[in-house]
Amino acid sequence: MESIKDRCKFVVDKSKCIKCGKCINVCSGMVLQFGKDGYPEMKDFERFGWRGCWRCEHCLAVCPKGAISIFGKKPEDSLPPPNDNMGEQMSRLLVNRRSCRRYLDKNVEPQIIDKILKALESAPTGGNSCNVEYTIIDDKDRVKAIRDIAYQDMEEQAKKHIYTSSFSDFYYKKMKESEKTVRNGDLLFCGAPHLFIAHEKCVGKWADDSRVNCDVATTHFELIANSYGLGTIIMSYPAEVLNELSPKAREMLNIPKDHYTKLIVGFGYPEIKYARGVQKTRKQKIHRYTDKNYGQLRLD
Ligand SMILES: Cc1cc2nc3c(=O)[nH]c(=O)nc-3n(C[C@H](O)[C@H](O)[C@H](O)COP(=O)(O)O)c2cc1C
Repeated sequence: MESIKDRCKFVVDKSKCIKCGKCINVCSGMVLQFGKDGYPEMKDFERFGWRGCWRCEHCLAVCPKGAISIFGKKPEDSLPPPNDNMGEQMSRLLVNRRSCRRYLDKNVEPQIIDKILKALESAPTGGNSCNVEYTIIDDKDRVKAIRDIAYQDMEEQAKKHIYTSSFSDFYYKKMKESEKTVRNGDLLFCGAPHLFIAHEKCVGKWADDSRVNCDVATTHFELIANSYGLGTIIMSYPAEVLNELSPKAREMLNIPKDHYTKLIVGFGYPEIKYARGVQKTRKQKIHRYTDKNYGQLRLD
């Protein structure tokens, strides 16, 4: 029978390997060692995860000579590291990424969504558990069907002054006003033609990690989508409506009830293009151990 180690298909091309040991030094699961011949080899182990290989592929990624393949993946098929200008490009992406609340009534090309999802596979998860699931509603008519039901339930409850846990008469009235301008007729999904939801079953001692895994995937999705020129909006309010007021709409997502679904990302082609980035003034306290006045507000 094939051992769990065999399933990893860890292969070292000895004609390329320079025995530098980088693969051993970055191995999260600590399952690599130098063999008697001086080349790296994989130890026996019982299980993937904490008791063995984390499936993180660091060995394949770190090898300066491209000598290591694992899980049948060849180093030459990896994307190269970002170029030197990437810091500047990322800063531009971050300051120009805006919450988009007005969209073209048009589906995004499936190839673009596929590219985003491909890149998203590399989003980190605690212990490389990779248990986050993604639900994409990439058909604008399906989004509309969900929205119509959720709206009906939300408005009926609002007549009785029943709102989601974070809402009240005041907030609801404000949101209603926003339908006339910024949320253009759709206070729930801001008219987004598509939805993305990262979700995971949250149980046991890793439940907090599971929730964070979803939030990490959410923010990664948002940034990657923006880098492809799409508009996005991270939203908690419609998730609350679906979870608390509209069981029928929630069911239409086809997401198990015990999965964490705190944030929904709306996305699509933006109706309005911005001309420049914002210049937000940072208000957060930054605690630096090098600060003389550690713990006090410091604005650079
Ligand atoms: C956790 C979280 C929940 C949010 N929920 C909503 C929401 O329900 N509806 C909405 O229109 N915007 C929502 N937003 C977007 C914020 O309002 C937005 O990020 C903020 O106004 C700053 O604008 P910017 O993203 O363009 O910098 C949410 C953002 C975050 C991070």
